[in-house]
Formats: sequence, structure tokens, C-alpha cells
Amino acid sequence: MADTIQEQLTKYLADAHSIEEQALQQLRGAPDAVGDPQLAEIFRTHLVETEEHERLVRARLEEHDSDPSRLKDLLMRVGGAGFLLFAKAQPDTSGKLVAHAFSYEHLELAAYELLRRVAERAGDAGTAETAQKIRDQEEQMAKRLEDSFERAVDASLREVGRDDLHEQLNKYLADAHAIEAQAIQLLEKGPDLSGDPELGRLYEEHLEETREHQRLVEQRLDTRGGDTTGLKDTAMRAGALNWGMFFQMHPDTSGKLVAFAYAFEHLEIAGYEELKRVARKVRDEETVAMAESILASERAAAQKLYGAFDRAVDASLREVGVA
Ligand SMILES: [Fe+2]
Ligand SMILES: [Fe+2]
Ligand SMILES: [Fe+2]
Repeated sequence: MADTIQEQLTKYLADAHSIEEQALQQLRGAPDAVGDPQLAEIFRTHLVETEEHERLVRARLEEHDSDPSRLKDLLMRVGGAGFLLFAKAQPDTSGKLVAHAFSYEHLELAAYELLRRVAERAGDAGTAETAQKIRDQEEQMAKRLEDSFERAVDASLREVGRDDLHEQLNKYLADAHAIEAQAIQLLEKGPDLSGDPELGRLYEEHLEETREHQRLVEQRLDTRGGDTTGLKDTAMRAGALNWGMFFQMHPDTSGKLVAFAYAFEHLEIAGYEELKRVARKVRDEETVAMAESILASERAAAQKLYGAFDRAVDASLREVGVA
């Protein structure tokens, strides 16, 4: 059944609202969970901004005689609480929190990029302006986190005890392997769900690169004498982004997929930025070089996805029958 563009716009607003609900849940818990006062402050600052985002998005929904979706908000709040539990259970809580938050800010950034485009197509200048304003704050938060990777790694190494740095590096490599396994699962869905041949090609291209990343990481771990036997069972160790549930909630998959893939690239970027710093501390130049080369590939992939947001909006509007 064909939807109107106005109906789509309120769905995008409700999605943005549920994303902010999850952000609130995470940001309320993060300051106490993180092992560094300056990192805690970064999270607290963005909590205040996020409370404002939630209000602004709710106001736009009310403008359209609509409400936040109680179900979506609830599911996302549960997801946020689950993630905090996951991070706290990890030995390197601070690093996991910062990496995930960096990724999450890019999920928000992408969601507002898409929302702005849908609002523009619907002739709703007020929503477009709000989306742009929030998007810019998400980007600034992402930048603050990006400037904090060193701090996050230091806090993590304090948390696990610094005396076994070589073993720690092997754990970072095993985590990178697990994240690549999740990336492969996600990208394998890409071509079918993309709704657009150009986007489909993008996912396929990066799937090939991702398999190569995973091979390189496994090789490094093997060369370093790390344990590679359990690697295949640890796909969910990354645990951070529960994309299975995310897709069930969101029928217009091309838009959601591109936003999610974009966020996932930033989870990988944060992971390799942290791994690179641990490798530097033990002067493992080969692992540093590997991380830098994979980082260049992840950043290029993220950039291409960013460039495809217009296509993704067109495809997802086509999927729901909006002309
Ligand atoms: Fe936000
Ligand atoms: Fe945010
Ligand atoms: Fe990637």
C-alpha cells in the first residue's frame, strides 16, 4: 500500500526519537561506567544535548499530530540498557564505551541526514532545519570522542592491568576479528536489501575488503602466537550493535541499512584506532601498519556510504510506494 511522504516523515521522526531514547539510556549510565573523569565529562555534556534532541524531535512529531512510538522507544531503551551491561562486563569497559559511542553518534548523524532529506522532499522546512542542527551536534560529539581514543585506551589498560600488554594486544586483535565477522554478516545482507544497484555494489565491494581485513587480523594474531582456535565462535563478542532487532523494527530497509552500515564502519574505525594505540605501546610496528592500512579502507568505505545517502532515501521511499 502506498504511503504518503508525510507518513514517511513521521516514521523517520519516530525512528529518530527512539534513537535518542537509546542514547539517553546509554549516556545516563556511561559517566559512572567509564574509568576517566574527562571521558565522563564528555558523556555528561552530551547527555544535556541529547535531552534537548529528544524534546526537539518530539515537538516536530507533535507538529505533525503524531507521537513517539512507544514500542520503538521501549525496544531501544532496552537495547541501551543491554549495551551498558555488556560494556561493564568487559575488562576494557572504557575502550568499549568510547568505541560504541563513537559508532552510535554516527548512527544518529546518518539518521538525521536521512530525516533532513525526507523533510525536504515533504516540504517541511522546520523539520529539515531541526535535523540539520541536531546532526551538527552529533558530529561534534563524535569529534570529541575521536580526540579521546588515547585516553580511552589508557583507561582500559588501567582497568585490565598494564603488565600483560602483549596479551592485551592479542585480545584487541581477537575483538577486531569478531567485529569483522559481524561486518561480513551485515554486508552479506547488503545486496539483497539495498534497494539500489549502486548501493548494492558498494556493499559487495566492501564485503570483499572485509574478508581481507579479517584474514589480515587472523594472520597477525597467528604470527604473534595468539590463540586463533576460538576465533570462529566469538562473532558476537563485539556485541555492541544489535542490528537483528534493529532491522525487524524498521521496514524501509535501504535507508536503515545505509545508516547502520555507516555506524558499523565507525565501530570498526574506533576498534582499529584503539588497537593501533595498544600496538604502539608494545612497539609492534607490523600491527600498527596493518591497523593503519585497514583504517584507510574503513574510512574510505564510510565516506562512500555517506555519499550514497541520497540514493538510499530515494530507494527507501520507492520501497514504501512514495512516488
Ligand atoms: Fe542526539
Ligand atoms: Fe548523540
Ligand atoms: Fe568495514
